[in-house]
Amino acid sequence: MQRVGILTAGGDTPALNATIFGAVERANQLGIEVYGIVKGFGGLLDPRVPYVPLNPLFSSIPELDPCQGGTILGASRTYISADSVDEMKTVAQRLEKLGIEGLICIGGDGTINGMQPISEQFPCVLAPKTIDNDLGLNYIEEPNVWERSEDPETGKPVYSKSDDQAEIELGEIVNYATPGYATAVYVVAQSINRIRTTAESHRRIGIVEVMGRESGYIALGSAYGQPDIILIPEVAVDFERLATRVAELYDLQKHVVIVVGEGVKGAEGVPLGDLGRRDPSGNVRFDGAAEALKSMLIERLGDGFFQSRRRHDTAESAIFTRMVGHTQRGGRPIQFDRFHAAQLGGHAMELLVRGENNALAVLQYNQDDGFHLMALPANKLRDRWGAIHPRNLHTSFYDCRRLQPSKLGREFLMPIFTTAIGADDVEHIRADLFAPGNLSTRYQGFNIDVHKRMRYLTHE
Ligand code: F6P
Repeated sequence: MQRVGILTAGGDTPALNATIFGAVERANQLGIEVYGIVKGFGGLLDPRVPYVPLNPLFSSIPELDPCQGGTILGASRTYISADSVDEMKTVAQRLEKLGIEGLICIGGDGTINGMQPISEQFPCVLAPKTIDNDLGLNYIEEPNVWERSEDPETGKPVYSKSDDQAEIELGEIVNYATPGYATAVYVVAQSINRIRTTAESHRRIGIVEVMGRESGYIALGSAYGQPDIILIPEVAVDFERLATRVAELYDLQKHVVIVVGEGVKGAEGVPLGDLGRRDPSGNVRFDGAAEALKSMLIERLGDGFFQSRRRHDTAESAIFTRMVGHTQRGGRPIQFDRFHAAQLGGHAMELLVRGENNALAVLQYNQDDGFHLMALPANKLRDRWGAIHPRNLHTSFYDCRRLQPSKLGREFLMPIFTTAIGADDVEHIRADLFAPGNLSTRYQGFNIDVHKRMRYLTHE
């Protein structure tokens, strides 16, 4: 191969530039040119096809910094429709016109779905990214336990799992950790530490909402910040038990910190944070699980609970909510993410060169080999009907009684996080955050410089 395209699709993560960097560095060694397609699949659907040559003369452009969060190529949630053969053909023709012989898509489950139709016309591989850590399988047979039925009202397919494997071993997990996840957990754990001291001083109940959609991996990792209660989307909230536990803890320590995964569900299985809003690709925009829990606690505990303890006049003033929000997705990636993202990017490049198509580079872990790279045909992620499901946190990782990670859950986290932060991550804060120059120099955005390198297939 002489020229390869690369794009970043879906929501961004702090490790995307590191993945692009790994792919481009490998391409430099192999003597392959890399064109970065701007704004994900949206760039291929745009007749002008904006792109950036990432390694002129086989040396990476200086704007490509693996320590910089986000993506110099821009991301979008636009995907190519599997139903439109014409659209796919057009995209393949555009790539061919650019002299591109293979495409690396950096993305999550939505991106694999977008990549599948292209792979029928054009060689494509995926390098994984998602802060949610929901791309992969708990065990290789997992896609086969999905059942499909039809919603009688909407006619849309409804999926549920039958006969899920009750126990798993860590070595069975397909794609153990995805670049972006570790940095998100780092941000969340720090946020909880900060919420903790103010909640404790003011004798309040803090409810911290974290991202992850319907997967509880980020919520699980929040355990490093030592929240008192962790609620994950995979286990419906038992309001009665929760209120009792909150009251017990409040009596004991005069404050409580609760973490809630944004996709958490009530007893009827309805997400508390689904207020009917959707993103451009039709995904639910989770927004409000923490507020819903706060309302529930206000109702159950009432003002009297706090007044009788002479702590607050109202339950409203005693309970506060915070969304960690997009800070989880932004900023400098920590060492674990940088290293493995770059490795996965390089591996994706190798897969493409050795002729793989519709496959992904995955990061595996077992006790004997530690973390190592492998390749997986994308179809291994699909159920019998072709759907790819976001990976749920396996329930054996969570202790429903203590509302904390189980022993296996803790064992899952440790290989990722015990050495996830490098000395340079800490030094960067010391040296750069309060650098006097920051006061007088404007943020030096990569968009400005990358734009100067932008080329177009056509100027239509
Ligand atoms: O899938 C990644 C993710 O960060 C989710 O955790 C979150 O629900 C969603 O994206 C937010 O998306 P947006 O940036 O479009 O609001």
